[in-house]
Amino acid sequence: MAGQQKKIPRVAPKAYEYAKQVLDFGFHNAHSAGMTARLERDFAKQFGQTYGIAHCNGTATMQSALMAAGVGVGDEVIVPTFTVFSTPAAALHCNAVPVIVDVDPDTWTISVDAIRKHITPRTRAIIPVAISGLPADLDPIMQLAKEHNLVVIEDNAQCIIGSYKGRIAGSIGHFASFSFQASKTLTCGDGGILICSDETLALKARKAATIGFKDLTLKPGNNVVSEQMRCQPDYQRHDSIGWNQRLPEIASAVALAELERIDELDAMRKYSAMAFEQVVRACKWLVPQKNPAGYVNAYWNYAVRIMRDDIVWSKFLSTFIDLGGDGFYGSYQPAHLEPIFANLNKAVDANAQRYPHFAGRLPRYQHGMCPVWEKIQPWIIMLKTNYFDTAEVDRQAQIFAKTLKRFD
Ligand SMILES: Cc1ncc(COP(=O)(O)O)c(C=O)c1O
Repeated sequence: MAGQQKKIPRVAPKAYEYAKQVLDFGFHNAHSAGMTARLERDFAKQFGQTYGIAHCNGTATMQSALMAAGVGVGDEVIVPTFTVFSTPAAALHCNAVPVIVDVDPDTWTISVDAIRKHITPRTRAIIPVAISGLPADLDPIMQLAKEHNLVVIEDNAQCIIGSYKGRIAGSIGHFASFSFQASKTLTCGDGGILICSDETLALKARKAATIGFKDLTLKPGNNVVSEQMRCQPDYQRHDSIGWNQRLPEIASAVALAELERIDELDAMRKYSAMAFEQVVRACKWLVPQKNPAGYVNAYWNYAVRIMRDDIVWSKFLSTFIDLGGDGFYGSYQPAHLEPIFANLNKAVDANAQRYPHFAGRLPRYQHGMCPVWEKIQPWIIMLKTNYFDTAEVDRQAQIFAKTLKRFD
């Protein structure tokens, strides 16, 4: 794309056509225009997985995956501290203990050593997060999972086309979870998908996502039971517990259209990251997230660490904005320091009988639990990469360069 301006529409033109097909078809209890079926089939294929299970968001996907893996009361799920609350929340939703561990000091993805140290007889799953778009070090994680009989769910909400040592991210874990929320590279406003190649796990996840309907199958789009079955008064519908997390057909139509132009969406993110990268590389006091050799970062954003403690974070942001910049984000709080966890500790301390699965088992979520990330997190800036016009990207990168000069 370098050299010539490229501008793409915010919404895929085909989305209008596919959405119209859904609306023209109308809404029926047991039939659809087939958009979810196409999305599930094509998405799984893109990542070399066999099954796709569309969901209403990329948190629900992880809930289903954990339920499918049999994670439940008192089990432990290892997650990194640099993530969105959705990742540990999915474990809590299953009444499992989120064991929140530290990250690598350079890639900021989950530390394999930390995982190793935190595996116990109660560990059931690991959720490595491809944070900012960078896959975690998945080979040793899969090896640990094999040794300890654990399920690995790649949380790729932020990583649509990344890769790890020659393999596309999303093809390595037992499950991979994606989000179609509005800020994501592939979006239909809200939505998500879980992909998997293990038939037993995938079917359990399908049922976990669809209130445990007994006769669901893994056929793409099969998220309702046929009318012939359901109309019978003696038909027993449900044989397991599940949430109700279907993706509406109209959202599937939009997601399908976006999937069909995923290469141009991906190229725009990577172009934006590279434009900022050039500026960052010329600055002595900014260090970007490290991409180890053999990894491809999908750059949901471009994450950078400020290495000068005399910089006031908010002043840095306001200078960028005053010069015409589009703003940037800081990192989320380290997950273990979100107030929910201290509140949970307090609630369990105060009423252990109400939380027998957590009493004596919950870590003390507090400062010092993940020292590497606690030190780095306040100094992170996450530059936006959701641009649709390379001229605007170039302008933002220039403004960012000008901003840096103000602090030299
Ligand atoms: C790392 C990560 N995991 C999970 C999610 C949850 O996705 P959703 O908002 O679709 O539930 C997000 C998105 O916000 C995310 O960034």
